[in-house]
Amino acid sequence: MAKFRADPSSSKVDLGVGVYRDLSGNTPVLASVGRAEQAVLAAQTTKSYVAAAGREEFNGAVEEMVLGPAHAARRDRRARTTQTPGGCGALRVGAELIRAAAPAATVHVSDPTWGNHTPLLGSSGLRLERYPYYDPAAHRLRFDAMLEQLERAAEGDVVLIHACCHNPTGADLDPQQWQALAQLLARRHLVPFLDLAYQGFAGGLEADAAGVRLVAAQVPEALIAVSFSKNLGLYRERTGALIAIGENETRADAMLSHMLQIARSIYSMPPDHGAAIAAHIFANPELKGEWLEELAAMRTRIADMRGLLARHLHEATGDPTFDFIRLQHGMFSLLGVSVEAVERLRDEHHIYMLSDSRMNLAGITPHNVAYVANAIARAT
Ligand SMILES: Cc1ncc(COP(=O)(O)O)c(C=O)c1O
Repeated sequence: MAKFRADPSSSKVDLGVGVYRDLSGNTPVLASVGRAEQAVLAAQTTKSYVAAAGREEFNGAVEEMVLGPAHAARRDRRARTTQTPGGCGALRVGAELIRAAAPAATVHVSDPTWGNHTPLLGSSGLRLERYPYYDPAAHRLRFDAMLEQLERAAEGDVVLIHACCHNPTGADLDPQQWQALAQLLARRHLVPFLDLAYQGFAGGLEADAAGVRLVAAQVPEALIAVSFSKNLGLYRERTGALIAIGENETRADAMLSHMLQIARSIYSMPPDHGAAIAAHIFANPELKGEWLEELAAMRTRIADMRGLLARHLHEATGDPTFDFIRLQHGMFSLLGVSVEAVERLRDEHHIYMLSDSRMNLAGITPHNVAYVANAIARAT
């Protein structure tokens, strides 16, 4: 980020950041969020604490949005939700819960995975191991290798799974693969820890929760880390939740009580402002409709840029190597090129991405796409 800022070139392109950007390169406050914020501020009469679990109405709405209104875990009262400071807060509280309940458990994370997963989960003292997930050079999932490795995991181990819009690869499981994974988790007594940070960015709120709902219906226990940083654009307001599903009501109650104890020992109470805005939107049909339209616009813009970049790369290189970009989901894809190529793109063409060649498709615009495609064709 510092190198990008210091680069005086007028043609520089930032594909490195981890936030959504519109066609003008801005990360806007959504109109629905702005309106909800006004209403929240107008109604607010105190800054006193809310509660250790945050807002009840937020937690209820999140649970319904993630699991759906009729999920068995909710019907059987086995789901408990607490508001957390963003998805990171949920991941961290979840990690501490695992550490307290099963200190010997290994957490299996995808190879590759989001860079923050390692510190967020590892600093709780848990052992992390990687399972094969994606081959960046071949641009495809390593699903068989993934199942093979998870088949050998110890009973009671935890498997961290990106619910949709895998970061950094953009490669998600299809419905059959979700089904096979859910069956393996249930049969091998593995505990899924689902990371849902991009609900609505791939196919819509319902479609993007399908994998989570499927897995949660087939296992006795699960954890789900939810983030509203991206889909509500609430990044700095730290708005998220941790959903715990227990084997029965008593176990679920115990999980919630532990979660709150852990939260108390880290940050005491979650911040309220973002959750108040989110809860206001979720409870107000008109605002919710407006938000869903804005979410669809973000989703469509990213999908459009994926198609556009893939087409320009096909033209610039004369081969279909980069066609995979069109088919992947969410903001990120791995270009799948060497560190040297990433450096050439930066030093010779002023195009910035992470050294593993993760690029944020929300940094592409119709204006810069030809420039980016030609540079990639030359640098790789
Ligand atoms: C895979 C993944 N999980 C979780 C998060 C949580 O983000 P936040 O703590 O900002 O809500 C992110 C954000 O970039 C992410 O990419």
